[in-house]
Amino acid sequence: MSDTFGESLYGGASHRRITILDLAAAKKRGEKWAMLTSYESLTAEIFDEAGIPVLLVGDSAGNNFLGEENTIPVTVDEMIPLTRAVVRGSKRALVVADLPFGSYESSPELALATSVRFFKEAGAMAVKLEGAQIESVKKLVASGIPVMGHVGLTPQSMHQLGGYRVQGRSDGDVIVEAAKALEKAGAFAIVLELVPAALAKQITEVLSIPTIGIGAGIDCDAQVLVWTDLMGLTKKAPKLAKAYRNLRAEMSAATKEFADDVRSGNFPTNDQSFN
Ligand code: KIV
Repeated sequence: MSDTFGESLYGGASHRRITILDLAAAKKRGEKWAMLTSYESLTAEIFDEAGIPVLLVGDSAGNNFLGEENTIPVTVDEMIPLTRAVVRGSKRALVVADLPFGSYESSPELALATSVRFFKEAGAMAVKLEGAQIESVKKLVASGIPVMGHVGLTPQSMHQLGGYRVQGRSDGDVIVEAAKALEKAGAFAIVLELVPAALAKQITEVLSIPTIGIGAGIDCDAQVLVWTDLMGLTKKAPKLAKAYRNLRAEMSAATKEFADDVRSGNFPTNDQSFN
């Protein structure tokens, strides 16, 4: 255990939170890492104990936790308690709060005011925002707030983009320039969502900050998944996701067993009863 930033993200830094300096050092030594979304304290604890170095309280909470159709309706007031829960549930991960649609785009001042709420009220350690919001990134970084960028498919703009479609097939240079501008403005990492693998490779090679891919091929510095997709809880997961387990089937089976045991008088047993 030490404070050096040369240690593996998985083995080192066990006595303190991961910081953006650890992520920069990982890029330099070519160490790949995984990010997961989390929306409450139980999964935050599990993912943290499993060694995930960065937890994203994504606005995907909208469709994966709050029952919305997409990420657009999610509000700051909804996201703040979720972020606080993830901070409380974790000890080691860097916790990044996603700025909801409408809470930052109109000015750098609004972006700062919203981010300050996530820092003060929820204990977030960084924020993420979608698109080339260059002036806002500069303002946040100058105010001491680490910023994760997000380019390619930016789901908050799905109506403008015509749906969830691969981005950058014909205008990859626009995405490369946006990524470069975000790095120059001070972003510490950039999510590349749903872009061709070759384009993500090019961006990863050109940037000195880590790229975090989702539907962006193997060559990104890191990969992110929505946790309900990873665990097979989502009813209809996108093609970019891989289900490592089938928790939906497991939970459904356990629920039916419990209900059957109650009906047949097999729950509770003496083990769950008191004298
Ligand atoms: O909200 C989210 O889950 C995200 C990831 C897909 C990067 O933005």
